[in-house]
Amino acid sequence: MLAKTPPMGWNTWNTFGGDINEQVILENTDAFVKLGLPAAGYQYIVIDDCWSCRERDPETGKIIPDPVKFPHGMKYVSDYVHSKGLKFGMYSCAGTLTCAGYPSSFDHEFLDAKTFAEYGCDFLKYDFCNMPRTANGPLMYRRMGLALKASGREILFSACNWGSDNVHQWIRSTGAHMYRSTGDIQDNFQSMKNIALSQENNLCYSAPGCFNDTDMLTVGMYGKGLVGTSGSTTAEYRTEFSLWCLFSAPLMLGCDIRTLTPEMLALITNKNLLRINQDEEARPPIAFQNDSGNTRVYFKHLSNGEYAFGLFNLGDNDDRYVRANLTDFGLSGSSGLAFALTDAFTDEPAGTVKETICFRVPAHDCRVFLARLVEA
Ligand code: GLA
Repeated sequence: MLAKTPPMGWNTWNTFGGDINEQVILENTDAFVKLGLPAAGYQYIVIDDCWSCRERDPETGKIIPDPVKFPHGMKYVSDYVHSKGLKFGMYSCAGTLTCAGYPSSFDHEFLDAKTFAEYGCDFLKYDFCNMPRTANGPLMYRRMGLALKASGREILFSACNWGSDNVHQWIRSTGAHMYRSTGDIQDNFQSMKNIALSQENNLCYSAPGCFNDTDMLTVGMYGKGLVGTSGSTTAEYRTEFSLWCLFSAPLMLGCDIRTLTPEMLALITNKNLLRINQDEEARPPIAFQNDSGNTRVYFKHLSNGEYAFGLFNLGDNDDRYVRANLTDFGLSGSSGLAFALTDAFTDEPAGTVKETICFRVPAHDCRVFLARLVEA
């Protein structure tokens, strides 16, 4: 089964946009391996838009890689990725042209899926630009879903229609394994916050086999990339990564892996956060908000008797006491029970909470805990 847990990997778009080539992919793949990301669970190396020639091959009708960007062809790149024990991802679009104006799969779905399979593709991101006015969006995803199944290769289907047409309600039925539910993320706190909160009520539409995708992470970009210029702070990236983990969202890195800082590497390989993200039950967290919506406490059931808490100060200015009554998450006073906390970042015990969970959190920052029920 594909996507038993939220898919993890790296995608070229956030940092490189159209400025991709064989060397960039190979160097990032090498860095990915050297930094130990595969051991942490990261698996997919995905080439986004702008990889192909501007025209299909006149003889075969196939989409073909740009020979300047990919002088040895696409199979060479996928073989390289596979030789490192990783999986290889590609990109196309449901419309007549991709978002950046390259040949796209409308009315060529079955041919293209076969071509991607020939290229050794294990993951297809499928975008939603330039749809003919009469085309039916959901039907286009059904088509590619079926085309991938018929391609002769097991290919993870990553739908990307930005939440259009009430995507949550039907996308699972197309065979998709993850689906973008929002517009494009930018490398700044406000964008990340808007995207995350927009899906707070849609996290129930994520389950093994198909996950709500709140977009590629900007974690570690620090303003160096195509999407947004300001960049975020270390605390803001900590908040982003923690939200994605609590949401059971796919973890597709978007930074330049070659220049990842030790601090960001520690964040994206944090065992406790990944344990939360990759929990096999993928349950949505219960959200409690306070302080005019500026603070959030998330409480998530994990498997094997564990729980997770995330406390977020999403306000822009001051430190806040972020708090929630544990009765809101189901713990009654008469239970005789309490939650024993472990700090997800330090791995240290963080006390026991019985009636209220309350921690002081700086603006744009968070605290995350693993928890177990104990006798009070
Ligand atoms: C859309 C998608 C992005 C990226 C670009 C490529 O905007 O949402 O994630 O794939 O297209 O052009």
